Amino acid sequence: MHISFHSTDTDHAIWLQDFQAALPTVQISTWQPGAAPVSCAIVRNPTQQFFDEQPQLATMFNLAAGVDSLFKRQFRSSVNVVRLEDSGMAVQMAEYVCHAVIGHFRGLGQYQSDARQGLWQPRAPKDRSQCVVGIMGLGVLGQRVAKALHGFEFPLRGWSRSAKQIQGVACFAGDAQLGDFLQGVQVLVCLLPLTDATRGLLNRHTLSQLKPGAYLVNVARGAQLVEDDLIALIDQGHLSGATLDVFDTEPLPAAHPFWSRPHISITPHISAITLRAESVAQIASKIHALARNEPITGIVNNQMHY
Ligand code: NAP
Ligand code: GLV
Repeated sequence: MHISFHSTDTDHAIWLQDFQAALPTVQISTWQPGAAPVSCAIVRNPTQQFFDEQPQLATMFNLAAGVDSLFKRQFRSSVNVVRLEDSGMAVQMAEYVCHAVIGHFRGLGQYQSDARQGLWQPRAPKDRSQCVVGIMGLGVLGQRVAKALHGFEFPLRGWSRSAKQIQGVACFAGDAQLGDFLQGVQVLVCLLPLTDATRGLLNRHTLSQLKPGAYLVNVARGAQLVEDDLIALIDQGHLSGATLDVFDTEPLPAAHPFWSRPHISITPHISAITLRAESVAQIASKIHALARNEPITGIVNNQMHY
């Protein structure tokens, strides 16, 4: 078996070395233009030229949980796209979101700003039962985040495409229940994949339905948020702020208004980083399973239905 490795944004040598160690009987090489076509590839943000030169591609492992950037490329619909499932990202996402939710609930940003001014200024505790956290997307990451937040006893709601039953989470499903889900939410966490159905979903209409003073945590994809609507709602006082890890344009341009907004916390798409050891182990185990003709999980063949 010959696997092609093609990434436009990772350190090729070290990944290749680890994949080769995990799959010693498989030939794995970095793709170069003009290389012989393969049936199996491991990719991250691949170029269109790569696909144009792969008439035999059957299985493609994506070195990310989200597949939106992959589906911007043109390739045959018969190719099985396999995404990363957790592989060490879920616990990172749980840490990040808990930090953002707790920071908002406890007013930690305000205390940091007080401390910089030498102010010793305790504030009255807030009522936890009023701090409803709504999680959009109850998949691998959303459910892990819900489990972590449950430990802090926040009232939880979740929204997904299909109906779910999750302990400690009031679950809503589908477009018909979106309004009921949003109503009264204090902290909205987005963990949806970017698809045609979710692009621009965090907009004036949806965010206006949150509780006055609500807070947004977007850790999914930047294109799900209408950035101007967020700024307008903060300026109008309807939203109190946001923690944003993802942006429509990344890196966030130097002149972007988000940088100078005191109520917007920015991180550079690090809420859940692709971990090499875990990702290599997961993909190698799936490659072994396929070689034994066993089924694997994580196949996303059509982003529209994802
Ligand atoms: P996942 O397991 O596929 O879960 C996606 C969830 O979204 C599912 O619950 C799904 O509903 C729901 N969903 C999809 N389309 C929907 C729609 N139109 N309406 C309502 N719900 C919808 O994905 P995941 O592994 O949790 O990852 C989620 C996303 O996180 C990724 O796609 C990626 O964009 C992002 N991410 C970001 C980072 C970062 O560092 N910032 C890292 C990793 C991933 P059903 O369960 O009913 O299908
Ligand atoms: C990161 O954003 C991922 O999708 O894995």
